[in-house]
Order: sequence, then C-alpha cells, then structure tokens
Amino acid sequence: MSKSKEWLATAGTNTKLCHGGYEPSDYHGFVNPPVVHASTVLFPNARAMETRTQRYTYGTRGTPTTDALCTAIDELEGSAGTILVPSGLAAISIPFLAYLSSGDHALIVDSVYSPCRHFCDTMLTRLGVEVEYYDPEIGAGIEALMRPNTRLVHTEAPGSNTFEMQDIRAIAEVVHRHDCVVTMDNTWATPLYFKPLDFGVDVSIHAATKYPSGHSDILMGTVSANAKHWPKLLEAHGAMGICGAPDDAYQILRGLRTMNLRLEHHFRSALKVAEWLEEQAGVARVLHPALPNFPGHEIWKRDFKGASGVFSFVLAADSPEKVKPKAHAFLDALQLFGLGWSWGGYESLAVLVNLDDRKIRKGQKDGAVIRLQIGLENVEDIIADLERGFAASAAV
Ligand SMILES: Cc1ncc(COP(=O)(O)O)c(C=O)c1O
Repeated sequence: MSKSKEWLATAGTNTKLCHGGYEPSDYHGFVNPPVVHASTVLFPNARAMETRTQRYTYGTRGTPTTDALCTAIDELEGSAGTILVPSGLAAISIPFLAYLSSGDHALIVDSVYSPCRHFCDTMLTRLGVEVEYYDPEIGAGIEALMRPNTRLVHTEAPGSNTFEMQDIRAIAEVVHRHDCVVTMDNTWATPLYFKPLDFGVDVSIHAATKYPSGHSDILMGTVSANAKHWPKLLEAHGAMGICGAPDDAYQILRGLRTMNLRLEHHFRSALKVAEWLEEQAGVARVLHPALPNFPGHEIWKRDFKGASGVFSFVLAADSPEKVKPKAHAFLDALQLFGLGWSWGGYESLAVLVNLDDRKIRKGQKDGAVIRLQIGLENVEDIIADLERGFAASAAV
C-alpha cells in the first residue's frame, strides 16, 4: 500500500529533491521507480476499455516512470500538471501550439532562446499567428503592446546569452488583465532558484537537458501548468503524441536528486569566475545578473534565490575588424573549456554568441559576446584556462 507523502509538502528543497515523485512502497520498496517500457496497456474487460477507467491506458499517455518524474516536477513548481517532451525546444513549441490559433498575436521576449524565434518566425507565422518581439526590460510597459487578439506572452529570464532580467510579476499582472497566457522559459534558474508560478506565470518551461540531467547525455523538456491552463496543455500533448521516453525520464529523475548540490557548486564557481573576469583588462563587460553593477541585478536580488553556472562577457576589441579574430583566438586557445552549445552539464563550455537575429536588443559594439558555462572543475583550473584565452586574444 502507498504511504502518505503529505509531510513532503512543507519539506525543504533538498528533502523534496530526494523524496519527490515516487513512493518506494508503490513498487516492492525499491527506492527508485521501475523503468517501464510501454506501448500497449491491457484492460481487464471491455467496459474498462471503453471508458478508459484505469490509471494507465497507453504508453504515450504516461507510465509509472514518467509519472514519477512529472510528480517530482509538480512538487517543485507548484503546478497542477507536467508533461514530458523529448527536448527543451519541444517544451517551448508544444505549449505555443496548445494556446495559439490562427489570427492570434503572440508577444515574445527579444532575448529569447534563438531556436524559439526560429519556430515562431517559420511555423507559427505559417500557421497564421502574428509574432511580435518585445524589449526584455519592458516590465508593466507591456500594456502598450497588448492587442485585442493577443493570446500569449512568452518570457525568459535572464535572457539567453545576454542575461537581461525581466520583471515577471509586473508583466504577468498586466497580461492577465487581458486574459492571456504567460509562459516562461525558466531553464537557467530551475525551479530551485525561481518559481515562475509564484510570480504569476501560467506555464513554466524547462530544458531538463540542462541542470536536471546534469551530465550532458540526456535531452528532455518539461512543461508545467497551473490549474487553469493544465487541461489545454494535456490535450495538446495527447493530440500530438510527442512524449518523453522512459529511460530518459528515469535519468532526469535521478539527476534531480543531486541537482541542488550541483547548482550550488555551479553558482559559487561561476560567480567567482565572473568576479575575476571583471578585473581583467581584456574584458569590456561581464553579463551576470548576480553582479551588483549588472543592469538587472536588483530584479535578480529581489526575485531569485540563486544563479546558475551560465553567463557571458564581452571580450574587448579596439576596432570592429578585430572583434571576431580576437574571439576565435580566445576560444581556440582554451584547453579545459570545450566549444559546445548545450549547458548545465558537469563540464565547462564556451560559445561565441551570435546576436544577428535580435530585433531590439542588438549586438554589443565593444567586442564579441562569449558565453561561458562554468562546470564542476576546480575554479583555479578554469581561471588558468581563461588566462590562456586572454593571452592569445591579446596577441591579435
Ligand atoms: C534557455 C534554453 N531553453 C531551451 C533550450 C532547448 O533545450 P534542448 O537543447 O533540450 O532542446 C535551450 C538549449 O540550449 C536553452 O538554452
């Protein structure tokens, strides 16, 4: 018989992460859930089959493994329900398709994760949705952009690559007066450092590929909705048949157990590196919300409980022609850092950011934007590697 989990509702973060989602007494006392590979589920009789009156009905509609992860995420997000999808990008595109129809207007933050913009500018536009980008620092000023047919406002804070902060509560208050849905890509903070639904967001989106996975080997997305918006999300998920795989769901739940410990390490190390970068002659600016002189710092301090391991800096260049050669010299000299796109894993990574698709928050003039993911290596080794990069770029 299943034991009660009521005590978990008021427990601390680490306790929730350790015990969330699954009750060992549900499966012979094993502390981890079974990995259920499933398409067919049998019904005991024709009546049960007709009415679908049993917990599991078909592999795409959930299994004990995916339920364990969805429940764990609901406990962290405070959401009414969570769906699993095969990537973080699908965790953006599926809710957009759930809530938007032809003739609707959608407002998307200009500092959005770039492939989201691609989805909006291609598929959404082709389906007859009017897409408009807005300044991340607009706050309550979003009122001026609302139209009678605005149905969805998408937020992401901090913004991808340039880390602008958004006043999520102020935006949600305005948007709700217009009966629109507010979505947020909260991948950077995870629900441990920012809980979107507590700030008025209706639908919280995560690339679980990043910190929940933590080991650069799993792709998965989660979408969690409040009670008002859960039925439409569940319906769209069922209609599209784009579900998370059981082995991946198991690994993400496994990752959640240690996510807070890993995040604390990423937070500490990344901040140390960011502070060190601020002192370097080759750096024009450091774009990290936890630094007191960063423009969005006050919002971060007010609303967020921590910062993860990803931030950017502007590599100073004394002339426009030198921006790219200096950036390439910097990146090519790195030995510990890998050059790779994803983040949230154990290893440090660097990327030369391309801001050409921005409509409002365009590229920096004083140098290349380099995004760093600070991994779990020793900070001294990370800094020693960055020193190699600065020496190489100074020689250009
Ligand atoms: C902010 C953000 N959201 C979503 C995604 C998409 O995640 P995935 O790589 O799982 O598609 C990424 C990936 O880099 C991201 O940075």
